[in-house]
Amino acid sequence: MPDLKKTFYVTTPIYYVNDIPHIGHAYSTVGADALARFKRMDGYDVFFLTGTDEHGQKIAKTAADEGLEPKQLADRVVERFKEAWAKLGITYDRFIRTTDEDHRKAAQAFFKKVMDAGFIYKADYEGWYCLPDEKFLLDSEVIDGPGGTKTCPDCGRKVERIKEENYFFKMSAFQKQLEKHLEDNPDFLQPASRKNELVNNFIKPGLADVSITRSTVKWGIPAPVPESTVIYVWFDALVNYLTALGWPDGENYKKFWPADVHIIGKDILRFHTTIWPTALMAAGIPLPKKVFGTGYINKDGKKMSKSLGNTVDPFELAATYSPDAVRYYLLREIAFGLDGNYTDDAFQLRFNGDLANDLGNLVSRSLTMLEKYFEGMVPKPGPQGELENQLAAIAKSYASKARTAMEHLEFHTTLIQAWELVKRANKYIEETSPWKVAKEGYGGKEKLATILFSLMEALRVTALSIAPFLPFTASAIWSQLGYSDDIHSHSLKETEEWGKIPVGQKIAKGQPLFPRIEKENKK
Ligand code: MSP
Repeated sequence: MPDLKKTFYVTTPIYYVNDIPHIGHAYSTVGADALARFKRMDGYDVFFLTGTDEHGQKIAKTAADEGLEPKQLADRVVERFKEAWAKLGITYDRFIRTTDEDHRKAAQAFFKKVMDAGFIYKADYEGWYCLPDEKFLLDSEVIDGPGGTKTCPDCGRKVERIKEENYFFKMSAFQKQLEKHLEDNPDFLQPASRKNELVNNFIKPGLADVSITRSTVKWGIPAPVPESTVIYVWFDALVNYLTALGWPDGENYKKFWPADVHIIGKDILRFHTTIWPTALMAAGIPLPKKVFGTGYINKDGKKMSKSLGNTVDPFELAATYSPDAVRYYLLREIAFGLDGNYTDDAFQLRFNGDLANDLGNLVSRSLTMLEKYFEGMVPKPGPQGELENQLAAIAKSYASKARTAMEHLEFHTTLIQAWELVKRANKYIEETSPWKVAKEGYGGKEKLATILFSLMEALRVTALSIAPFLPFTASAIWSQLGYSDDIHSHSLKETEEWGKIPVGQKIAKGQPLFPRIEKENKK
C-alpha cells in the first residue's frame, strides 16, 4: 500500500551564529513548532526544519573580533540554539548547519544547475554592501548618512563601498514569470498586508541581476567556477531548504517538496520572494507554496537585536516562568505577521490572567472536586442538560475553527478559540455550583457526577486543543487526568468526540500549573 498520508513541510529562517538566541529568534521557531505539532495532530506527515546560517563576511568578522575561527564560533553558538530549542520544546526533524557537508554539496550543485541553465554570468560588481544584513545595495537604494557616509535603508547602519569581480544571477530574466506567479498564487506571500509594499517597491520597478559570489570573502562555500571565490551567503543559505530533504534525489525531497510554508521575519521577505523563487525557476524546481513574513518583537518600541543591546533571553524567561508561558505569550499576545512589543508587565498580565486564573484554576478546582466527591475516580454521568450541551458544542466546534485559523497561521485566534472552552467551563462551575449540589443534595449524586464528568471532558478537550501551543502543560494535564500515554500521539479529531474520558479512570492531581506571579516577585 502506498503511504497516502498528507505531507507538510515547514521551515524557519536559519539563524546567523553571530548572535545568541533571543526572543526574536524564538518567535518564528515557536510559531513553526506550533504549526508542525498542529499538523501532526491533524494527521499530516510533517517535516520541520530549522538551523543556522554560518558563512559570510559578518560571521567571519565576529569570529575574528573574538579571536576565533568562524567554525569555532559557529560550534559554540549552535549549542546555545539547540539548548534554547530543547528548553522551549521545539520538535524539529532536522537542525541544519550550512557548514554541513551535504549542504556544501547541495549549494554547489544548485549553483551549477542555474549556471548550466544559462542564468549565471561574470561581471564587475561595484556598489554598496550592508554587512549586518549581508545585502548588496544599489546607488539608488542607499541613504545619505552623517559626514558624507551612506546608510542601509533597512537597518540604518553604515554601508561599505565594494568592488569585486563576481558572478551574477540573471534575476531580471524572471521579471514577468515572478509577477505572474504572484498574481496566480495570491497565497504565495502572506500576510497579504505585506504584499503590496513588496511588489510595488521591489518587484514592479524591475528586478536587477544580483551578485552571487564574493571574491573578497574567504569564509564560504567555494563556488563551482574556475576562480577561487565563495558563494554569496544568501545564495548558499536559501538552498538549505532543499538540502534538508536530500535534494535532488532524496526520498524526503520527493515526499515533502515543495515546502508548504517558509516562516521568516519581514526583513528577509524580499530575499524569499525575489531571489529564492526566481533562482528556483532558473533551476527548474517547483516553488514553495507559501512564504509567511512575521513582524518584529520590539522591546520598548525598538527591534530587539544584538547591536541595540535590548534582547530578552528566552532561557531566562523560561526558567523563571516556564517554557510554555514564553510560548503562550509569543503566540497569543501578538498576531503572527504583525509587529508586537515585549514588556514584563504584558507578560505577567497574560500569565496571571489566561494561564493562572483561567486555565490553572480550572484544572485545579475541577480535580480537587473530583478527589473530594468521587475519590478521584471519573464518575458515570447522568443525562446531559442544556448547560452540558453548551459545553459539548463549544468543544466539538474547536477543531474546524482551529483548522481555518491555522491555515493563515493565526495562532492567537486559535488560542482564543481554545480558551472559549476554558472560560465556559469556569462559568459552568459557577452556574452549577457543585459544592452546593454536594451539600444540599439536590439532584443527587447523579447530578454531581454529570457535572464532574463534564468538567473532566472539558479538561480532556482543552489538553488536546492546547497541545501544539503549550506542549508541557498539555502533558501535565493529561497525566493529571489519569492517562498514562503521550498526549502528543493523539489526534485533533478527538476534540470532536464528547464523552470519551473512561468512567472509572483515576486522576492524579499534581502541582499548580501556573502559580501566580505576585508583584513583589517581579523581575
Ligand atoms: N540568516 C538569515 C536568514 C537566512 S534564511 C535562509 C538571517 N538571520 S538572522 O539571525 O539575522 O535573523 C533570522 C530571523 O530572525 C529573521 O527572519 C529576523 O526577522 C528574525 N528576527 C531577528 N530579530 C527579531 C525580532 N526582534 N523580532 C522578530 N523576529 C526577529 O536573517
